[in-house]
Amino acid sequence: MKIILLGAPGAGKGTQAKKLAEKLRLVHISTGDILRENVKNKTSLGAEARAYMEKGALVPDALVERMLEARFDKSDTPAGFILDGYPRTIAQARTLEGMLAARQMEVDFVFDLQASEAVIIQRLTGRRVCSQCNANYHVTNMPPRVAGICDKCGSSLYQRVDDNEETVKKRLQVYKQEVASLIDYYAQKQKLYSVSADQDASVVLDQIVDLVTSRK
Ligand code: AP5
Repeated sequence: MKIILLGAPGAGKGTQAKKLAEKLRLVHISTGDILRENVKNKTSLGAEARAYMEKGALVPDALVERMLEARFDKSDTPAGFILDGYPRTIAQARTLEGMLAARQMEVDFVFDLQASEAVIIQRLTGRRVCSQCNANYHVTNMPPRVAGICDKCGSSLYQRVDDNEETVKKRLQVYKQEVASLIDYYAQKQKLYSVSADQDASVVLDQIVDLVTSRK
């Protein structure tokens, strides 16, 4: 099964993708996580991407495309994946279609996680991420058992550089510029399902799983 999660920054794409990957035994492919890994490891791709990410702008298409091609070439993708953070524009949606067609794959479901702006700001400014395994926490919504420490691997948690209010607003603006056309694109292909992401994470997960299993 091939699933795309759309949604504004903070809508909960990463949170849901991790839970879905576990539940449905799919690979979680997050362009944001791969980019941050490249920045952390000081690769040439990371060096090129860093400035865009820090100001909340999109990284140039060619860079993300190159990175994603390499990910799709791994042997675990044909069995099924959840794509989180890609596509973000119509151009990327078309590129994705080509990349998948070249590998005899196509997308089955596109979920649009809809969250309100107040919820998004609250979620992003309180988010903490594990420096090792990328597990996601929130200082009040989903706190770790011990403050600042990952429940899963014991490593320290950090706050993303783009999770300050000013950059969050810029990321939201970038998202709003592109989202309507992307939603139309997948609606026309009859692959789009909307889910209210303001709800508790377990409720959102159940709704996605129900939709996937009832339409398989
Ligand atoms: P990326 O990492 O993809 O960031 P994003 O799209 O801004 O999304 P986020 O990761 O911020 O939010 P999320 O929806 O995953 O929310 P989460 O589950 O963490 O991209 C970062 C940057 O990389 C971009 O700005 C761009 O520069 C670049 N980039 C990436 N992809 C690109 C592409 N395709 N093209 C060009 N550039 C690209 O949840 C947020 C918080 O809320 C967490 O603390 C969580 O615990 C909490 N939470 C989640 N769900 C709930 C819930 N239901 N109830 C309560 N709390 C919740």
